[in-house]
Amino acid sequence: MRAVDRNLPLVVEDVRPEAEGVVSLRLANGTSLPSWRPGAHIDLVLPSGLVRQYSLCGDPAENTHYRIAVRKIGVASGEVHALTPGTRVTVRGPRTAFPFVGGGPFLFVAGGIGITPILPMVRACAGSGADWRLVYTGRSRASMPFLDELPGDDRVRIRPDTEYGIPASGAELLDGLPAGAAVYCCGPAPMITGLRVDLALTRGPVHFERFAPPPIVDGEPFRLTLRRSGQLLDVPADRTALDVLLETRPGTPYSCRQGFCGTCAVPTADGSSMRICVDRRTAVLDL
Ligand SMILES: Cc1cc2nc3c(=O)[nH]c(=O)nc-3n(C[C@H](O)[C@H](O)[C@H](O)COP(=O)(O)OP(=O)(O)OC[C@H]3O[C@@H](n4cnc5c(N)ncnc54)[C@H](O)[C@@H]3O)c2cc1C
Ligand code: FES
Repeated sequence: MRAVDRNLPLVVEDVRPEAEGVVSLRLANGTSLPSWRPGAHIDLVLPSGLVRQYSLCGDPAENTHYRIAVRKIGVASGEVHALTPGTRVTVRGPRTAFPFVGGGPFLFVAGGIGITPILPMVRACAGSGADWRLVYTGRSRASMPFLDELPGDDRVRIRPDTEYGIPASGAELLDGLPAGAAVYCCGPAPMITGLRVDLALTRGPVHFERFAPPPIVDGEPFRLTLRRSGQLLDVPADRTALDVLLETRPGTPYSCRQGFCGTCAVPTADGSSMRICVDRRTAVLDL
């Protein structure tokens, strides 16, 4: 993914509840904003300085504002929920790590807040005559944003998991997959893993975006030395250097936690640097 070195000063125009624990924000500054395509996200720089990524979930044809929707989970999303109209924020991007390509057929699969990048894709299809379907799952209907913005026809399958008691498996989500369909998925890690496993059997193309880091598979433990204090930190096989560092230094900066934004990069004593959210090696950190 290419970095977008562009800081847009924007103002929060509107904050709107969209579902339990989810608000949408309308961000604008009275000018035309850079264009974007379905699947794009922005970096939102909050008044506290925290930076997080949020998918654009409005209409790409409307260039006077950006719309994002945020589920309240931790510190930064809590700060987003407390924003009020008139607050100034900085936006970087938009950039696309989840490009929407091809002519269909498409199967869209969204889990909860994962509907945000999928919604503009569905809208693009709904107006184009493409062959598509959407499966949208969540803990309950009340927790699922934008139900009222989805096309009201049988190509849309809403599946609140509480009705069935267990989260949908990959096979259930793929039930009725049109032949040759490309799958676009955004949702929790088990949903993405289930789809990838089941699609490996059919060899269908799958495109996905993660909002949170994937589980560490086949990790090796390693040791970090903090040069200035001499402190030694052992990183176990199933955790990241960032996770371990945050325990002793809660203010350690991070953003995407998937290795692409560079926020967590720390210089090392050998003259290189380490993205501590993903890099795994014994090193002396210049901290
Ligand atoms: C490309 C991209 C697009 C994103 N788009 C959106 C979006 O449209 N809307 C949105 O609400 N978030 C989105 N996110 C996630 C967002 O950037 C933040 O990670 C999220 O708001 C949590 O930040 P926090 O500081 O509140 O929580 P933190 O304190 O950083 O994290 C708290 C814990 O929650 C976990 N977590 C993070 N996101 C989720 C999640 N969705 N479900 C369950 N657990 C999670 C983390 O792994 C962590 O353990 C996106 C992330 C990426 C990388
Ligand atoms: S937090 Fe984005 S690269 Fe590490």
